[in-house]
Amino acid sequence: MRIVSSLIGGAWRDDAPGGTLEIPNPTHLDETVESARLGDATTFVEACRAAREAQIAWARVPSPVRGRAIQQLGRLVEDNAETLARILTREIGKPIREARGSVQEVIDTCNFFVSEGRRLYGMTVPSELPDKQLFTFRNPVGVAAIVTAGNFPVAVPSWYLVPALLCGNAVVWKPAEYAPATSEALAQLFVHAGFPAGVFNMVLADGPTAFQGLERALAEGLVDKVGFTGSTEVGRKIGELTGRHLQSACLELGGKNPLVVMPDADLELAAEGAMFSGFGTAGQRCTSLGTAIVHSSIHDEFVSRFAEAVESAPIGDPFEDVLYGPMMSGRFCERFLGWLDWVRPHHVVRGSTGTGRITRENPRKGFVGDPEAGLFVHPTIVDGVTMDDDLYKQETFGPIVGVATFDEFEDAIALANGHGYGLSASIYTNDPKSVFRFRERISAGMISVNNSTTGAEAHLPFGGNGRSGNGSRQSGVWVLDQFTRWQAMNWDYSGKLQKAQMDVAELTADPSFRLQKA
Ligand code: UN1
Repeated sequence: MRIVSSLIGGAWRDDAPGGTLEIPNPTHLDETVESARLGDATTFVEACRAAREAQIAWARVPSPVRGRAIQQLGRLVEDNAETLARILTREIGKPIREARGSVQEVIDTCNFFVSEGRRLYGMTVPSELPDKQLFTFRNPVGVAAIVTAGNFPVAVPSWYLVPALLCGNAVVWKPAEYAPATSEALAQLFVHAGFPAGVFNMVLADGPTAFQGLERALAEGLVDKVGFTGSTEVGRKIGELTGRHLQSACLELGGKNPLVVMPDADLELAAEGAMFSGFGTAGQRCTSLGTAIVHSSIHDEFVSRFAEAVESAPIGDPFEDVLYGPMMSGRFCERFLGWLDWVRPHHVVRGSTGTGRITRENPRKGFVGDPEAGLFVHPTIVDGVTMDDDLYKQETFGPIVGVATFDEFEDAIALANGHGYGLSASIYTNDPKSVFRFRERISAGMISVNNSTTGAEAHLPFGGNGRSGNGSRQSGVWVLDQFTRWQAMNWDYSGKLQKAQMDVAELTADPSFRLQKA
């Protein structure tokens, strides 16, 4: 069995003060994928110290050269893509095609930031005084602590790690404890890409332990920026903690993403989009569809198309061509089964031949493989959801989608925003007026038109508002503001003290002047 461990200051740790964790394959629970040596809070602090020591020299490496390390990383990921995707599918059960897509997202991110090393532009700004010049520079923030979820165990970390390193920061990455093999594989690629020891560190630990470590590291002044992708609840705690240190974390949190179907929508397209949005990755994306909000005039037709598509979709072995595989881990499976209690008598349930765990007694038509070997659950469509339902109000990280109806556009907006999340939202319509009115009124950070709520491209701003985040954005040029601080410089070469605002030349105008009438 493989044993994976933390990487600190260029050395793989062989201690396990946080204990060891055996990770089962969620498709075949009797098979252990690997054993992880976990660190404790002190391990986390040590990693931050190693990062602090390495960061100053790394920041002095010219950014085009730092870009080369990113280029080397991208090439290594590309040349190891299939192996990495297979490790990922084996560990968290993501269908292999989606796993390959996640790995591609890392390559895309590297490709984007390679050239940013040759830009990282500042500005020259004119001064109000002669013989004086103004400049702006992007400075690295320092040490970035990055804590990520395991549903995208390589793509989402790369959105933080790649730009953070490119900008001259050192990083301490705490991946999800249920995806250590994929995390270790990605860490190996970072190690071999040429980053100096201590610039990239990884700590395997459980969440509460890492939080204690983060509290200590912040108190010791070892961390300058925190990036977190995960639940709204933990995001709030990280926001409070970093706020006390006068820092604003980059927070990418939950979602209850709406998909509005207007009366003029192409219903076949909308049903297909709803199926992929809601059930891709077994609904375990922050961008997964929460509630389809459907105009009453097309409700019945949409629901029957949607339900039929989901009812006949293959589910099972993630190495086969399936809509989704197992839940990522026992914890996610348990939580999902708990959310099914939110289904009430006024709801109508569709989507499968049963609800809950797929077993021999509770089978799923067309299941691919042996359902009892892994953590497989039925897809669930809950029609008749209203704003009073928990199913409407709370994120459900799994294969369950609500359907609500509306008559007036205003009601669709109220349903789409009313829960306070604001990550991703979709509208199906062919009317430009509906598209732009929706865009103006929706609280989400990302909007899809005639497309899935999921599947953001790697170079558009990614992030949400309200319960989905504090307004921070990842990806593309926008993430540079997370990992750099603007520094303003003025240089007066006049040889005298020129006072801004006071010594500025005045040009006199004649305000009483009027043109002669023709
Ligand atoms: C997440 O679930 O945290 O847009 C990220 C998407 C993916 C990323 C999801 N590219 O659905």
